[in-house]
Amino acid sequence: MKVSVVGTGYVGLVSGVCLAEKGHQVICVDIDQSKVDQINQGIPPIYEDGLEELLKKNIQNNVKATTDLRSAVLDTEISLIAVGTPFDGQEIDLKYIKEVARQIGEVLKDKSAYHLVVTKSTVVPGTTDEVVLPILEEASGKKAGVDFGVGMNPEFLKEGEAIKDFMYPDRIVYGGIDEKSISLLAELYNVFPGVDQLATNCKTAEMIKYTANSLLATMISFSNEIGNLCAAVGNIDVVEVMQGVHLDKRLTPILPTGERIVPSFTTYIEAGCGFGGSCFPKDVKALNSYGEKLGSPMRLLEAVIEVNSEQPERILSLLGKHVSELKGVNIAVLGLAFKPGTDDIRESPAIPVTQSLLDAGAVVKAYDPIAKHEAQKVFGEDKLVFCDDLSEAIAQVEVIIIITRWPEFQQIPELLAPLEKPPLVIDGRRMLDKKSVKKYEGIGLEVKA
Ligand code: UGA
Repeated sequence: MKVSVVGTGYVGLVSGVCLAEKGHQVICVDIDQSKVDQINQGIPPIYEDGLEELLKKNIQNNVKATTDLRSAVLDTEISLIAVGTPFDGQEIDLKYIKEVARQIGEVLKDKSAYHLVVTKSTVVPGTTDEVVLPILEEASGKKAGVDFGVGMNPEFLKEGEAIKDFMYPDRIVYGGIDEKSISLLAELYNVFPGVDQLATNCKTAEMIKYTANSLLATMISFSNEIGNLCAAVGNIDVVEVMQGVHLDKRLTPILPTGERIVPSFTTYIEAGCGFGGSCFPKDVKALNSYGEKLGSPMRLLEAVIEVNSEQPERILSLLGKHVSELKGVNIAVLGLAFKPGTDDIRESPAIPVTQSLLDAGAVVKAYDPIAKHEAQKVFGEDKLVFCDDLSEAIAQVEVIIIITRWPEFQQIPELLAPLEKPPLVIDGRRMLDKKSVKKYEGIGLEVKA
């Protein structure tokens, strides 16, 4: 099929390149000429594992980029809207979605062939039916469901694993305003045989996306709240508690061979210093505000947000147990990215923790295998020392704080072993064995005499 994807950010570019790899003819559209030029040279403007290889393979063959939305819409059968939805801390801003819908509508005015317009960005339920569709009708002077179709197709891509998630999806969800819109989306995705597909209306598709992320975020805040209670009680380790919980066969089923399956989602049922990233905080807050606006407050989600926003402070209170005056104390912050495998530091707990340490006068060294440059943009280059490797970061510090679960931090016990006076390790991810270092503090663990 011929597909145009408007917006070459993380969702748009990954979708466009993967659909091209699957055999569709894709035109990526962006207003930014430099991004378009880069893409046409086979250079992705964002980093995502495997993206460059797929782009290079398909560019000028199955995929090309342009700033010309009109020709892209005229030359294709389906347009996916994948532009950004800026967030003001409470609600998403639909200005780019509205603008693109208006531009597509204006092209549809002059296009005689049927065209399907699909929202791919994450938007609150009702956006496609109540915002996108009326703008398309108004700008085109045509009727949705008659002259053109409208659909919604959420993405379920994890940062760092987006190509894999797109090429080998768990499920494909799409909504449409009528049979024809849905059958075109089914045709677009019939290149994924054997994958569960759920066809529904647009509002439901929008709700599925928010619900999926809210559920995972809720599991994290739930686990953190349990961890906080464990710490308050004392002599209960939340890691052990969660191990016991995970052994429920409904969470980790046992095969007839006796082997226990550990689904990857069980890692969300573990305590830590909180979730971040560009999706969970934004999506949970947006759904919460949406519910409030509709007179259906999301009490659980309110708590999910609150628990998460307080979680980085737990690190500081663990530190406060050992060091009352932070001025001049040498501290290593390990991990700045919101999760391992990415250089994205948006909403990372590393930001409030590092900022509080700096405000209190601590001397901070920070290390992240790949997020150094992103962090320098936030903190500047001279307020703290950005180290290039783990050994440098942990040399001559009194405290080590682990924020991101980067696998290389497993080496910490070995690196500290030879030291006569090793630093205190505060494990924000509970990734180390608590007995592997001399002085250990972790989320959800308080040893009381
Ligand atoms: C999340 C969802 O997992 C994707 O399914 C969804 O498509 C995406 O948002 C989106 O809406 O675009 P992502 O934000 O890339 O993907 O990251 P996750 O790997 O889910 O991590 C989110 C947060 O949860 C991170 O702060 C991470 O540290 C935390 N997390 C993640 C855990 O605490 N435990 C885990 O096992 C995994």
